[in-house]
Amino acid sequence: MSSPNRRLLVTSALPYANGQIHIGHLVEYVQTDIWVRYQRMRGHEVHYVGADDTHGTPIMLRAEKEGITPKELITNVWKEHKRDFDDFLISFDNYYTTDSPENEKLAQSIYLKLRDAGLIEKRAIEQAYDPVKEMFLPDRFIKGECPKCGAKDQYGDSCEKCGATYSPTDLKNPFSVVSGATPIKKVSDHYFFKLSDPRCETFLRDWTQVKTPLQPEARNKMKEWVGQPGESKLGDWDISRDAPYFGFEIPDAPGKYFYVWLDAPIGYYASFLNYCQAKGLDFEEWVKPDTTTEQYHFIGKDILYFHTLFWPATLHFAGYRTPTNVFAHGFLTVDGEKMSKSRGTLISAHSVIECGFNPEWFRYYFATKLNDSLEDLDLNLQDFVARVNSDLLGKYINIASRSAGFLVKRFNGIVSDEAMNNPLLTEIRSASEKIAALYEGREYAKALRMIMELADKVNAFVDDNKPWEIAKNLDREADLQKVCSVTLEAFRMLSLYLKPVLPQVVAGVEEFLSLPSMNWSAVNTPLSSQNPINAYKHLMTRVEAPQIEALLAANL
Ligand code: MSP
Ligand code: ZN
Repeated sequence: MSSPNRRLLVTSALPYANGQIHIGHLVEYVQTDIWVRYQRMRGHEVHYVGADDTHGTPIMLRAEKEGITPKELITNVWKEHKRDFDDFLISFDNYYTTDSPENEKLAQSIYLKLRDAGLIEKRAIEQAYDPVKEMFLPDRFIKGECPKCGAKDQYGDSCEKCGATYSPTDLKNPFSVVSGATPIKKVSDHYFFKLSDPRCETFLRDWTQVKTPLQPEARNKMKEWVGQPGESKLGDWDISRDAPYFGFEIPDAPGKYFYVWLDAPIGYYASFLNYCQAKGLDFEEWVKPDTTTEQYHFIGKDILYFHTLFWPATLHFAGYRTPTNVFAHGFLTVDGEKMSKSRGTLISAHSVIECGFNPEWFRYYFATKLNDSLEDLDLNLQDFVARVNSDLLGKYINIASRSAGFLVKRFNGIVSDEAMNNPLLTEIRSASEKIAALYEGREYAKALRMIMELADKVNAFVDDNKPWEIAKNLDREADLQKVCSVTLEAFRMLSLYLKPVLPQVVAGVEEFLSLPSMNWSAVNTPLSSQNPINAYKHLMTRVEAPQIEALLAANL
């Protein structure tokens, strides 16, 4: 775990290119970014890639509605997504698109390898078809009356009125959401990835139950799916869609396209390949089966199956390495409820910025809620204000303002070297590996609790020593310098510990302490009299309660 020279490829799920980034998405990108920044601070070689997920029916239809081509739509959305990720300090090394030449080539070659391995089968299936629009209809595009309670305008999978679940064929008076026409049944050839093949079953049982240290909840879910030897519940996976479809055409199958979920995860590799080519990195070295590099995917729990069944099987049988691990997180709720447009809690990333919020408030707040489990997490808006103001400002930022002023005004910014062996500093320094292990294990809530407990001790030290009292006594100059030096060195180490979460604030700290960018081992290099600090600049402002009202109003 603490071995040097690890080489890591890290991804976050690729957001659909048909909507805005909202704060639910941000939980995932912030979670990944904190981990990536932590790994970089440890000196490892880390490449963090992402992309927009651009293919499929919803994107095709939305473009049509807006009177633009799908390519125009995904170009516009890409710019918005990139802006939002930059705003929230998500440090992708490459942010790409699944609609790329690299992805088309990779998807096709992976498909051909699966076909040559005897794992692709063509089969005719019957499906709902819109005779007016002349297209097959995904379940989500068929509505009708609930077969149980008769409620009108219900989706093909479940009733929002009575909660019944059923299949689209059970709907009464079904209609196509696209044209309003009554869907008919139509037969067409589809291509399947034969997950029911004994080879896949054996591989997936081993991969999910033995080889990969999946989270326990994830492993148990997969256990149900892959079942006992010989009783696999894995069905074959339909990987083709008929034209019209926005995506990549299947080689040798005109009019047939890869289902978006086939080429989406391959998009991780396509983004990385694009990056490798730009940086002169050896892509093959990272993706070959016997590689010593590590590969991690951060995802939400809703897309676990795709990442722990379909994706590893795809990679393995196409001759690639498989992920080292997949890290799933839970869903964000706001004030205990599912995010909702009508309550203004479906909060877009951009509105947060427009309303003048500091993105690091959110990074910090999410981090205080994140752990290594699949449990949902809640954004409680009152608690948000309290955490930011009392922890972040009251406990942490405040330490700098309590000590820096005297050092600059009375000692030309020069710290006392003697102060650096104070026991409080030793205590803070000795927490370094514990905090590191918590970041490594994605236990950010615990890491931050530990850091804030240390901050409490520093504040108690200041309260006990009362530098403002010492300052009045002119023959206690040396004491004043010492107390302020201890306090400021403590602040430096706390800043280092918080750097994965608060990269911008800590960049400001490094500037004011006149330090080069700190990596994790810098915890052992205390401030020095050789290196005077600069005047303290305000690092962060408080969040004001009325800002919350404005944010909710902006999202109604
Ligand atoms: N396009 C697919 C992923 C393809 S990966 C090869 C997708 N896109 S998404 O835009 O719907 O979601 C992107 C990520 O955000 C997913 O991991 C999803 O779980 C996560 N989240 C979306 N809403 C969320 C919350 N409310 N809370 C936490 N994460 C959420 O799925
Ligand atoms: Zn019903």
